Amino acid sequence: MTTTEDSAVSSPPRAAIKARNLRIDNWRRGPILTVLGITAWVAYATFRVFYQGDYWVADYHYLTPFYSPCVSDGCVPESAHFGRFLPDHPLIPYAALSLPFLLAFRLTCYYYRKAYYRSFWLSPPACAVPDGHAKYTGETRFPLILQNFHRYFFYAAFLISVINTWDAILAFHSPDGFGLGLGNLILWANVILLWCYTLGCHSCRHVMGGRLRHFSKHPVRYRFWTLSSALNARHMMWAWITLASLALTDFYIMAVAAGWITDLRFIG
Ligand code: FES
Repeated sequence: MTTTEDSAVSSPPRAAIKARNLRIDNWRRGPILTVLGITAWVAYATFRVFYQGDYWVADYHYLTPFYSPCVSDGCVPESAHFGRFLPDHPLIPYAALSLPFLLAFRLTCYYYRKAYYRSFWLSPPACAVPDGHAKYTGETRFPLILQNFHRYFFYAAFLISVINTWDAILAFHSPDGFGLGLGNLILWANVILLWCYTLGCHSCRHVMGGRLRHFSKHPVRYRFWTLSSALNARHMMWAWITLASLALTDFYIMAVAAGWITDLRFIG
């Protein structure tokens, strides 16, 4: 008897075609760009997370998302909105409480899975191109079966997006009281984009509208499910845009904090 698992990962071998594949378009472009994009982002993020400096602009209360929430003993006290309780150590990121969950959330995201399975693991590199590996077990075994935890990482990511929103609210600050500058616009653009990515998550969509027999009896959940579905349709776009917005937001705050540039101020 063929089980669902068998049929998913052990389908009949490909037709006896001599050519390695029959694609005539530039199918390598996507995987190559993905490798370059993700590698560059991971290199930048790793440098910033362990740099442990230039993450907080005291005058305007700008806190980069890479250091939020700042919970290390090494954090500037004003930047630690939720207390400082982790030891200050060069190998412990200041936001060590949130970063592992954010990493897990992105690593197990349905879109990123497709992206890195294709580009880094060549499994398969593209549609109608043979797998780069002789054996294929899909996500039926350890460690890839752990991808199923994505639904739980969604809740953590939701909470962290709330914290990022709170950081953006607190950043309406200047030495005179209320303040507004280019940094605020950048922080808010980043937060809104993060919500577009997070609320378009497949797990969020299921939380909103899953396991319902009749949408007509759950109009509120139906509304949220519709919104989540609309965002979900562009999930890949949000995935890439938020990588860019996170890096840009962090870089801008680092540049202001380091004194390379001054924040463009509209108020305060
Ligand atoms: Fe991409 Fe959940 S599927 S974040």
